[in-house]
Amino acid sequence: MTEVVAQNGKPRAVKAAADDLVEVRMTVNGTPAVLSLPARVTLADALRDHLGLTGTHVGCEHGVCGMCTVLVDGQAARACLLFAVQLDGSDVVTVEGLGRPDDLHPLQEAFGRNHALQCGFCTPGFLMSSYDLLSTKPEVTEEELPEELSGVICRCTGYRNILTAVNETREAHPDGIPAPGNCAHRALVGRATGQAGGSTDGREAIESTEDTPRIDIVLPDGDPTIAVDIETGIGVPVDAVWRVFDDISLLARCLPGAELTEDLGDDHYAGRARVSVGPIKLAFKGVAHVVEHDRAGQCLRVLAQGQDTGGAQTQADIVLRTEATATGTAMRAEAKVYLTGRIAQFGRALAGDVSRRMFEQFADALREAATSGQAPSGPVKAPSALKLLFAPLFARIRTALRRKSR
Ligand code: FES
Ligand code: FES
Repeated sequence: MTEVVAQNGKPRAVKAAADDLVEVRMTVNGTPAVLSLPARVTLADALRDHLGLTGTHVGCEHGVCGMCTVLVDGQAARACLLFAVQLDGSDVVTVEGLGRPDDLHPLQEAFGRNHALQCGFCTPGFLMSSYDLLSTKPEVTEEELPEELSGVICRCTGYRNILTAVNETREAHPDGIPAPGNCAHRALVGRATGQAGGSTDGREAIESTEDTPRIDIVLPDGDPTIAVDIETGIGVPVDAVWRVFDDISLLARCLPGAELTEDLGDDHYAGRARVSVGPIKLAFKGVAHVVEHDRAGQCLRVLAQGQDTGGAQTQADIVLRTEATATGTAMRAEAKVYLTGRIAQFGRALAGDVSRRMFEQFADALREAATSGQAPSGPVKAPSALKLLFAPLFARIRTALRRKSR
């Protein structure tokens, strides 16, 4: 049995065996997260494996190398030496919270400018340690920097440039350096099966339990990974299209690779979806919330959120608008899609192509369902990104062969 007490001034005695699950609520980079973790899990592993924040590096796991340094309630701490369950109610900032890719923190800019990173393994630890130093002791002198930063070890021995970068930042901000600039609500999701973090706004988080909880989906701040705006004509009257929109299980049958598994009530639904991106096949489990179903205004808006066991997470804000035309219905889809995890490593162009192809398949299936009043005859399969990738090449080969045979 382990007994631990919270460090943040709010004593929390926890008696648990190493593998017992304990619920922990933390704010990480501005996002409230609820985790259900074995008591033995360190803060470093909770951040990396359960929240997908792999910027925190782990070197020695003994508190020696400083690679895993993060801020806990505003102070630098070794994430490998803390149990996550000690930190209920804590505010944690990791290197991901320091700056945005398009708006780096001055320390990050100085590291880049001064070539203060070689392999970069120690960089998150140095950034968070030097942030802690310059924010709590802005009067530190250049001569004191080597000793003050000696708690982080660089195996590439790039100390000279690291010290230059920190000193340059110190000189540029004598009254204290700017606060971390990337702390806001966003999706947090981890790689560990059965564990998840959430962008919760203080409400329930998604947890991979057998019974899917009804949650309020909170979309991340910032630009979506993919923005889709597509219009297509459907050769059936708008009333027939809305008969499909009115029947959510029929509508779900029209979505490529999707399956509705549970009506959670109050316009919330649980479901599964399969997507192929290159060689990777993803099976998402998730929830959808119909936030607007306005037949008179001809607008259907759905928020959706899903994750697969490998740590890919997708969130989407989808708006479908219809308009009667001389030939039937014009349907416009606007979607903002947010991707995290391994699915996000694929280019926007490819992910955008997959989304567009899925919309075309959805429109075809919708046409069939609206015409027959029944679910599409065959399964509506999610498109394969490989096929999409090679489609232009095959088209070119076909054209060349045709020309040759003339
Ligand atoms: S990994 Fe935490 S100090 Fe080395
Ligand atoms: S840059 Fe490689 S460990 Fe420091």
